[in-house]
Order: sequence, then C-alpha cells, then structure tokens
Amino acid sequence: MSDAVRAAELKFRQGRDAELTAEAAAISRRVFGGKVFLRGLIEYSNYCSCNCLYCGIRRDNPHVDRYRLSDEAIYAAVDSGYARGLRTFVLQGGEDAAFDTERLSSLVAGIKKRTHGDAALTLSCGILPREHYAQLKKAGADRYLLRFETSDPALHTYLRDGVSLDRRLQALHDLKSTGFQTGSGFMVGLPGETEDTVVNNVRLAMDIGLDMVGIGPFIPHPETPLKDAPQIPIELALRTTAFLRVVCPEAHIPATTAAGSLAPNGREEMIRRGANVVMPNLTPVEAKKNYLLYPGKICLDEDGLQCIGCLSMRIKSTGFEMSFDRADGLVCRKEISA
Ligand code: 5AD
Ligand code: SF4
Ligand code: FES
Repeated sequence: MSDAVRAAELKFRQGRDAELTAEAAAISRRVFGGKVFLRGLIEYSNYCSCNCLYCGIRRDNPHVDRYRLSDEAIYAAVDSGYARGLRTFVLQGGEDAAFDTERLSSLVAGIKKRTHGDAALTLSCGILPREHYAQLKKAGADRYLLRFETSDPALHTYLRDGVSLDRRLQALHDLKSTGFQTGSGFMVGLPGETEDTVVNNVRLAMDIGLDMVGIGPFIPHPETPLKDAPQIPIELALRTTAFLRVVCPEAHIPATTAAGSLAPNGREEMIRRGANVVMPNLTPVEAKKNYLLYPGKICLDEDGLQCIGCLSMRIKSTGFEMSFDRADGLVCRKEISA
C-alpha cells in the first residue's frame, strides 16, 4: 500500500474530514477539470431472480408492480436523452431472464446505431457467464457496472442470499478481461459492517482497478428482511466518498441517487467530496416509481430532462460545471496497454 493511501486511511479513521474533503475536491478538479459528467439511466426491468436481503425489488417481495420496458420505450428514452445532448446511457435492470443476452445484444446494437456510434453504452445487468459478457461487448457495449456491495465475504453471502463474494469478483475479472470499462462499488452502512469493513471496501475498489466506483448509503426498505436495520447517517457515506476519491483518483465516482434520497443535498455533498458523475433517470415516469430498491427515492415525478435542468443548478451550486462529454474510463485501458 502506498504512503498516500495509508495517510488517507488514517485521516478517515481519525475523522479528519475537512482535510480529506479538501484533498478529494482538489483531485477531482485536477483529474476531471472541474467537470461533473452526465449519464442517462434507463431502468428497463424490475423483475429479478435474485433475492438480495437489502433490495426492494428482490424476488420474494410480492408487493412490487413488475414491469418490463418495450424496446420502443427504451429507444424513445435514449432518443430524448440524445437530443438533449447526453452521450452516455446506462441500461440497468434486475437479473431478468426475459432480457437474455440475445435481446440485450440487439438493444445494444440498436442504441449504438441510433446514437451514430458517438454515445457510450453502459450495462448493469448482473452476473453472467463470461461468454455472454463477450457477446455484449461484441454487440457494442462499452462499460459494465456490477457493485460488489461489501468486501466482507460472510456478510456478502448472507446479504446476497447465497451468492459468494468470490463469484462476484470472478465476474468483475471476466468483465475486465473482456475489455469492458468496468465499474463496481458498495453500499455504506449495511447492518453488520464496521469501520474496518468500510476501509476494506475502499481498498478492494482500489485493488480491483476500476474505471467507475459507485457508492451510496444503505437505506432499509420496509418490505425486505432488513426493514428493522438502523439507518446510518449520510455523513458516513460522505466521508467515505472523500476517502475513496483520494485512494482512486482516476475513477469516475457518481453522486448517487441514494445519497440524494437520504439527504436533500446528498448529491451536492458528494460532489464537494470528489464525486464527478450524476445520473439523470430517463426511465418513463409510470415505470420508475416501481423501481424502488430503497424507499424515498427522488425524481419519481420528474422526467429525465427535467432532472437535467435541476442537476445543472445543483452542480453549479457546488462550484463545479455540468458536462455532456462521454468521459470514458481512465483506469482499465491503461492496465491493458501496460
Ligand atoms: N439502499 C441503498 N442502495 C441499495 N441498493 C440496493 N438496495 C439498496 C438499498 N436498500 C444498491 C445496490 C445495487 C444498486 C443498484 O443499488 O448497491 O448494486
Ligand atoms: Fe436483484 Fe440487484 Fe436487487 Fe439484488 S440488488 S435483488 S440483483 S435488483
Ligand atoms: Fe431529478 Fe432534481 S435531479 S428532480
């Protein structure tokens, strides 16, 4: 471990937040030129065959109104975002067999075609066999998000209802070796976690070598087995953001919707601590209210274009500048060419 990382860890543990925040903001400005990049999110299906204990759309929650977007609805969301200037789209869904690799590949190709090859496409569709990742890459997908959620192996197996951390890490390895710009991340404040877990989460994100690292506060959902877990205050997620930025200077770090849902200025506070991405939600309004991984999710009545207007003001208030650049990953490509 480098001295810089050791020093950041000490500051995190000692609660020297002002120092970490200043360092993190300076790094973000230096690496990304004071810009905060937009990614248009499309939540294409809330069916999921997994049963993660923390998640509101887990298989065993019978109270979810399940939906699948049609290809036309997905394309319409992309078209409206593209016309507004977005140059990155993220397709996210539960692990849903109806969106098999064939269908996802055809969507990927369709989106790349209608955005004239100049928008980046990110997938967030869960664990798949390596050959399926290769097929999606071949179809034109550029990036893939798969959070590891927690670095504690026993907690991971428990919270993900039997899926091991090793399986998750294998999938991340498969994604990197297939040539994806690869993102992962974790929740902050899962029940059973300690300060050591948070430090290990940040270290694991660094060790994997990630283009994107998404983190956000865990928010207990009332229709899940974790409904009585305590809500950890947003501050821990904010402190962790600054620590993460110092340890992973070149990773894209989103100011997440979960942070904005737990605290009115949660996203702005993440940007002040080094986050450099925001993800306006382009999912049609009728559908997005049913994609509730956690309660209190914001932006349910607004469409993605309204959110872009809102985000431009919010970003401005932090002293950073909103950017439509597609802003590719800076980390994995370097590893491959090294
Ligand atoms: N609170 C906060 N984040 C959650 N996620 C899932 N459930 C919750 C929750 N209850 C996060 C997970 C997942 C991402 C899409 O949303 O980290 O990877
Ligand atoms: Fe499915 Fe993801 Fe929710 Fe787990 S966190 S149940 S994989 S949507
Ligand atoms: Fe969606 Fe503010 S970002 S309403």
